[in-house]
Amino acid sequence: MNKLDTALVTAAISKAGFEPADDVKEADVVLINTCSVREHAEQRVLSHLGHLKHIKENKPELIVGIIGCMAQRLGKKLLAHETVDIVCGPAQIPQIVRLVNEALNGSKAAIAVTEKIREKTNAEQNRALDDFESVFDTDKTIPAQAYVRVMHGCDNFCTYCIVPYVRGPEISRPPKVIIDQIEKLAQKGVKQVTLLGQRVNAYKYTAGEKTYCLADLLYLASKVNVIERIRFVTSYPSAEFFDEILKAMADLPKVCNYLHMPAQSGSDKILAAMNRHYTAGQYLKLLATAGEVVPDIALSGDFMVGFPGETEDDFQQTLELVKKAQYKNCFVFKYSPRPGTSAEKRMQNDVPKEVKKRRNIELLAAQEKISDELSRQFLRKEVKVLVEGLSKKPHLKSPRDGSNPQLIGRTARDYIVVFNGPESLAGEFAKVKITKTTALTLFGELL
Ligand code: 5AD
Ligand code: SF4
Repeated sequence: MNKLDTALVTAAISKAGFEPADDVKEADVVLINTCSVREHAEQRVLSHLGHLKHIKENKPELIVGIIGCMAQRLGKKLLAHETVDIVCGPAQIPQIVRLVNEALNGSKAAIAVTEKIREKTNAEQNRALDDFESVFDTDKTIPAQAYVRVMHGCDNFCTYCIVPYVRGPEISRPPKVIIDQIEKLAQKGVKQVTLLGQRVNAYKYTAGEKTYCLADLLYLASKVNVIERIRFVTSYPSAEFFDEILKAMADLPKVCNYLHMPAQSGSDKILAAMNRHYTAGQYLKLLATAGEVVPDIALSGDFMVGFPGETEDDFQQTLELVKKAQYKNCFVFKYSPRPGTSAEKRMQNDVPKEVKKRRNIELLAAQEKISDELSRQFLRKEVKVLVEGLSKKPHLKSPRDGSNPQLIGRTARDYIVVFNGPESLAGEFAKVKITKTTALTLFGELL
């Protein structure tokens, strides 16, 4: 979501005549897109602001803007920070150009946040967001790929989560607007779209007699020429629409056989305290069904360690679930209390820091073993990747001997593939033979 918002804002301000600066010291305006999901992410923004404060001492005309979830969460409090000139919440990004211009013209109150974030947004605001998304829609950082938001916000209220309070209520965008946007992206050469929603599989839109679900969107998007791959994230473990979505995945060759479905914990007690509405058994059943309907499906998940009240036994149950699920990879986070959430208000953050750290390491180590084994299956096999661009490592990006640089691509099942090839392949499909594997990366030769 944040990557998409950054791309939208970048496109909007570029269209208004601004150019990206190579270095922060050369910039007239610095915009920081922010995440509030864990405290650590917010602390990094604050330390970045400390750095900008020094730059601003020598260059008082520098404009600093905070956009995204932290802007929505802190609002005026952030504007009170001496370094900050602009505060803009995620639902207000269509106003970013106006806010930047106001700040450049000396306004000290360039702020746009949603007053009552949990109230259903009015039709006008929705239309402004839809227009903004539809016009400014390509992410230049990864060629031939784009994110398409299919829904805003979340109504699930997991007890630890800040998202419903910063991104507002769950609203599905009209299917016509989404498909028109995908068609426009295809005309610009986009080959892969990723449909985005906090609970993307809860997508539901009623138009006349018909109620559309995510599976309907997948069928409609599959009809768009040029688009060759369709992904969707993030799926919530729920039986609603699940069979329809799996069937669409199995039926439609363009839909990637990849499912990111966070479990968060393997303990029923913790899952209930998190307000997740499922048990570990029900979750595993969903995965089993997915494996039956889409036999070569690749799975990934999110887990949280150190949620209030998590005992060693609860953690062991999480470890067991991870071993049973056989994810290709998973993301593990240490519980971080978020202001205003029900866990922060009603539960004790009682798992010591060191214990969280140890559980995090242990869970990742168990997953690494599984990832390593799953990756090995690709040895000597051919895979088709969509090339994302050059490797981030400078010496491999432009080898001194003039040989081909190292490229990064991704398979339909979301495996990262590293190989040497001409830079012109970025945004193209390529076939690669795998010669070496590690837990998270496949290495190979361009065919
Ligand atoms: N503390 C730690 N991790 C969190 N996540 C969400 N809220 C918190 C929190 N308060 C994790 C969840 C979610 C991922 C995006 O971030 O695992 O799936
Ligand atoms: Fe947060 Fe839960 Fe909604 Fe995901 S489903 S965004 S974890 S409240």
